[in-house]
Amino acid sequence: MTETLKSRIKRLARQQLLRVDRGLRGGVKPELEAVYQNIFNRDLAALSIEDTFYPLNSAANYSLLYLVLRSARELNIRSVVELGAGQTTILIDALRKKGVLKGSALTIEHDDAWAQRIGQLVSHPILNVRLVERQDGPYRYKGYDLSALKTSDPIDLLLIDGPVAGDEERMHSRHGALPLLDRLDPDGFILILDDAERDGEAELVERVKEYFLKKNIKFASGQSDAAKRQVLFATGRMMSSAFF
Ligand SMILES: C[S@@+](CC[C@H](N)C(=O)[O-])C[C@H]1O[C@@H](n2cnc3c(N)ncnc32)[C@H](O)[C@@H]1O
Repeated sequence: MTETLKSRIKRLARQQLLRVDRGLRGGVKPELEAVYQNIFNRDLAALSIEDTFYPLNSAANYSLLYLVLRSARELNIRSVVELGAGQTTILIDALRKKGVLKGSALTIEHDDAWAQRIGQLVSHPILNVRLVERQDGPYRYKGYDLSALKTSDPIDLLLIDGPVAGDEERMHSRHGALPLLDRLDPDGFILILDDAERDGEAELVERVKEYFLKKNIKFASGQSDAAKRQVLFATGRMMSSAFF
């Protein structure tokens, strides 16, 4: 079904309101990148993990790497699913090799060459899936084909940082992660959405909140701002991570 004029106007008005709201609350804080970098480098050194990371441009920035590392250190994570391979995948692998992250890990990636390249560097599976066209209410986008995701383990760390988004054509592509919310661990989980300073991802944050409210899931949320913005949702035994 194509989007009606009325629902398009509603969606654009909503985007505009979110933009004003974000403007009032201030944008990202690139000047804090060095603060997160220091903490991340300190923690890598404490864990004897070699610093081979390139947290630049479209790759994970330091506040995202910090959140992943701290979650692994402080929370008993049994199952990680991440959308979008890259620096975070290499970090997850290093944390698993050091025994800091004891649970399973799965990375979903649509780009064949990138999946293969990152797959050669890490020990956990990279699930190379296609992007499929989806009509999701008023949203139309290409999202990951999640039918290939066979694991039934509840997810207790879900990281949404793929597929590529940000331009007009692909701004809602990460909304394709919404079906995974049903797979989050009822005992508690942490959900990290990257790039939440952008319109498409900010709308996704609102849709995630609506989902939790509808399902009566008690959550706390937090936000990290540096070169990019991460919004974090936490529940149950992971609730304290909203203060990370
Ligand atoms: C925002 S990036 C993924 C970031 C990832 N979580 C990280 O920590 O770097 C989203 C997508 O961009 C693409 N991508 C990222 N870096 C790439 C590279 N160096 N070459 C090709 N594609 C890349 C991949 O398809 C990836 O899933």
